[in-house]
Amino acid sequence: MTVAATEKLIAPHGGTLVDRTGERPDDLDSLEHVALTSRELSDLDMIASGALSPLQGFMGAADYERVVEEMHLVSGLPWALPVCLAVEDAPSGDRVALADVAGTDVAVLEVEGVFPYDKEREAELCFRTTDDAHPGVARLYAQKPLYLAGRVTVFERPAQTFPELARDPAETRRIFAERAWKRVVGFQTRNPIHRAHEYLTKVALETVDGLLVHPLVGETKADDVPVDVRVECYRTLLDGYYPEERVLLSAFPAAMRYAGPREAIWHAICRKNYGCSHFIVGRDHAGVGDYYGSYDAQLIFDEFAPHELDVEPMFFEHTFWCNVCGSMASTKSCPHGAEDRVHLSGTMVREMLGTGDVPPVEFTRPEVARVLIDAYR
Ligand code: ADX
Repeated sequence: MTVAATEKLIAPHGGTLVDRTGERPDDLDSLEHVALTSRELSDLDMIASGALSPLQGFMGAADYERVVEEMHLVSGLPWALPVCLAVEDAPSGDRVALADVAGTDVAVLEVEGVFPYDKEREAELCFRTTDDAHPGVARLYAQKPLYLAGRVTVFERPAQTFPELARDPAETRRIFAERAWKRVVGFQTRNPIHRAHEYLTKVALETVDGLLVHPLVGETKADDVPVDVRVECYRTLLDGYYPEERVLLSAFPAAMRYAGPREAIWHAICRKNYGCSHFIVGRDHAGVGDYYGSYDAQLIFDEFAPHELDVEPMFFEHTFWCNVCGSMASTKSCPHGAEDRVHLSGTMVREMLGTGDVPPVEFTRPEVARVLIDAYR
């Protein structure tokens, strides 16, 4: 494969794919150690791999301010959510070692600054609520009081739960180029793939060269379906119902923030770094509870100038099975009434799975339902 082949793909955000992996420094033991949370470790690994290009480290005060207030970096590039490292105290040295949750050093940070932040303001602007019942807000409120900024060098990448699905942006880009895909649609999910998700991805795939099914495998809230169960669902569905040469299943190492609209922008930018020219945004993308309107995560794209993001969102209305159409549809494509639609709430589905009842085929493919029933028993 030639360099020219990957150049036909969408450029990374900011033009260059960042690589912040490097050597373990000799003086590591003499440095102050900072322990990272699971969310911060996910962000760190994504900085290392270039998934968060153009970020080279945890954000400084100026970028933080512009991102929170205006959804842009100081450079003028769009950016929707803070990527920050919270600490108790300012470190004394000009470099610190960053450790994982087990206390193992994984990276070095060159200290550029330490700054206080207003948690309620960040919550209001980024999550559109200050309610601590919101899981992302609750996590923000539990953070340490200062943000530590600086470029990182990661010498120890985290162990992967699904090594065969762990692909950095450089690798997905290489695979897309090898397959001669230029127009690639990315699909974010933190759920098993039900018929609605299958419909969105296949409708999108009809108009592009390839589909990146990119389930989030970082931290999620406790009542989301566990990642190992989800991965089995994805494999089962892709094996049975998708053409192998048109689809790539790969893990997205981020933690969920549940920031709805702003997270949709953030998700799209990350997938651009992985080489996706298009990104699916359906109903209540990255939402939780009733904090966001069904289409807020689509409307927010209007706050950016045309082509500013470069990656093209593909919007979908709420999709459902229509008994009269005999197919998946949305109110954009189906004239029938609500009484003709198969609608199951998440709670109803969980109850069915708990009692071993197979959800209807119009909601979930039987093979996927079987994986879920086995997991929920
Ligand atoms: S998310 O938190 O990752 O957004 P989920 O895995 O449920 O949650 O959704 C993945 C993507 O599919 C999102 O873009 C979401 O908007 C979209 N989606 C999920 N269900 C539907 C549906 N019934 N109709 C339209 N879009 C949907």
